[in-house]
Amino acid sequence: MRKKIAAGNWKMNTTLQEGTQLITDILTNLEADPPRQDAGEMLIIFAPPFITLKDAVELTRGNGQVKIAAQNCHTEEKGAFTGEISVPMIKSTGAEYVIIGHSERRAYFNESYEMLAKKVDVTLKHGLSPIFCCGEKLEIREKNEHFNLVKEQIESSLFHLDAEAFSKVVIAYEPVWAIGTGVTASPEQAQEMHAFIRKLIAEKYGMPAAEETTILYGGSVNAKNASELFAQKDVDGGLVGGASLKAGDFAVIVNSFQ
Ligand code: PGA
Repeated sequence: MRKKIAAGNWKMNTTLQEGTQLITDILTNLEADPPRQDAGEMLIIFAPPFITLKDAVELTRGNGQVKIAAQNCHTEEKGAFTGEISVPMIKSTGAEYVIIGHSERRAYFNESYEMLAKKVDVTLKHGLSPIFCCGEKLEIREKNEHFNLVKEQIESSLFHLDAEAFSKVVIAYEPVWAIGTGVTASPEQAQEMHAFIRKLIAEKYGMPAAEETTILYGGSVNAKNASELFAQKDVDGGLVGGASLKAGDFAVIVNSFQ
């Protein structure tokens, strides 16, 4: 079933102590104001830094609505890659999702389409779900090439999957010009791209598969604009950066679904 998701991408923020405190604070906020949807309908995902994964899993154990994600993984399962983290390592913490292809990783760490396809494969091989990010820079949108670019990103790194594997993937559309800038895509801009992505999926895997795919919006989602964005027909929730670091704001975002 297509689930709604409110996911917090903490990026390179929070020490271990700050991270566990943040989770505790968010859970306390949600106890006071519980989500209207149950776990069958809506999930809350925290993507803290690697060092916090295991503690995050332990702190949220027993709460079936909360899942933990890593922010990245290596393409290989093990080996001489000093400083890197593999999917089996992530899995051993109890995390169930991996963010793949965030625009910061594409831009600062030169992650190619081919590399991202490998990361998707190794994540699925170990039974974890990729949260696959796509989205255009401002200059691409200004040239009206954003649809073509997003199509290329999705086709190159996801469309080699068979239907069964693809059903485990969550997509996050994150226009680069909206990330960390305070400029959000308008609800209409988000809906337009999400509908386009769903159509691409329908053409490749069929309409039922497209209807089952969760497509998140990311880019300056906050406690004020989340409900309008999430109300769009094809926007199934958000991948939230800055506002996910504020316990009160993130709890409001979790409660922004209709
Ligand atoms: P932002 O980041 O909410 O701070 O814009 C979103 C993201 O990069 O996932």
